[in-house]
Amino acid sequence: MQRIMICGAGGQLGQKLIGAAKAAPNDWRIFAYNRSSLDITRPEDLRVALAEARPNICFNAAAYTAVDRAESEPARAAAINVEGARRLAAACQEAGIAFVHFSTDYVYADGYNRPLRETDRTLGTSVYARTKLEGENEVLRHHPGAYVIRTSWVYAEYGHNFVRTMLRLGREREELGIVCDQVGSPTYAGDLAAAAMQLSASGAPPGIYNFANSGVCSWYDLAKAVHTMGGIECTVRPIMTEQYPTPAKRPSYSVLDTRKIAATVGTPRHWREALTSCMDKLARHAAGAAPLP
Ligand SMILES: NC(=O)c1ccc[n+]([C@@H]2O[C@H](COP(=O)([O-])OP(=O)(O)OC[C@H]3O[C@@H](n4cnc5c(N)ncnc54)[C@H](OP(=O)(O)O)[C@@H]3O)[C@@H](O)[C@H]2O)c1
Repeated sequence: MQRIMICGAGGQLGQKLIGAAKAAPNDWRIFAYNRSSLDITRPEDLRVALAEARPNICFNAAAYTAVDRAESEPARAAAINVEGARRLAAACQEAGIAFVHFSTDYVYADGYNRPLRETDRTLGTSVYARTKLEGENEVLRHHPGAYVIRTSWVYAEYGHNFVRTMLRLGREREELGIVCDQVGSPTYAGDLAAAAMQLSASGAPPGIYNFANSGVCSWYDLAKAVHTMGGIECTVRPIMTEQYPTPAKRPSYSVLDTRKIAATVGTPRHWREALTSCMDKLARHAAGAAPLP
């Protein structure tokens, strides 16, 4: 029986990885660790978890993801996204454990006007972006056989994400101003988790892969879609980035070219289709018909 270890199992992606592992055709034995059972910045936690799980493969969904807060907590962000990721990758390499790590569209240099390829220039214009970029580099330096999956605009039925925020604000307010000059591709965490599982079992060459649902939209488009699908009546006004200043700079264009991963796992479904699945699950949950996740 194969043994799978999931770090950051309490997060959006972590919970979906557990679901994807349960649904996988192979008979996985799953060892899922949230931050209270395995803090990836604590070597002792890692030693104990690895000894218990003795995994064939480890997925690292643990990350410091508070993009704006990272600007005032750079050391903490680096401890998790750089050192934590490195320690995990190195320990897996040493023990002969396959490793899958996750990164972000924020690592790409801004200024492209076509979908971003894995080989495009990287930069990191915020603390979060720099720590994720450094984390990727460290993971691949210490575990050359690892898969690093860059993704964008992740959401699920739970956790902190734009979709849930729009549902809440749409019900609370009559009018919202949402940024329309940043475009990208929303990614349903369930689709990302399934693709990551498939990629890891495929024998495809290691290295960096992009994954996002297909199609392109702005945050404004996404807010409108959430409200329409959720039956919420709220006026959504398009605004420009400078009208909504944030401590961390956001990329204006973060559409990912997913052809490399698609060659192995198939073309990701359109973001509207994925969002519909998520909204359906939320509606069934609200009606008491389905648990989350
Ligand atoms: N969310 C997005 O829009 C987005 C976009 C692009 C890329 N990504 C990347 O996708 C991956 C998954 O993100 P996500 O959306 O699932 O984020 P998430 O929901 O914030 O989950 C991250 C998880 O990591 C845990 N964590 C934080 N510090 C930890 C530590 N020291 N040790 C162990 N666990 C720790 C968090 O626990 P606590 O909640 O207890 O802190 C949380 O459960 C990350 O690599 C992220 O950078 C996310």
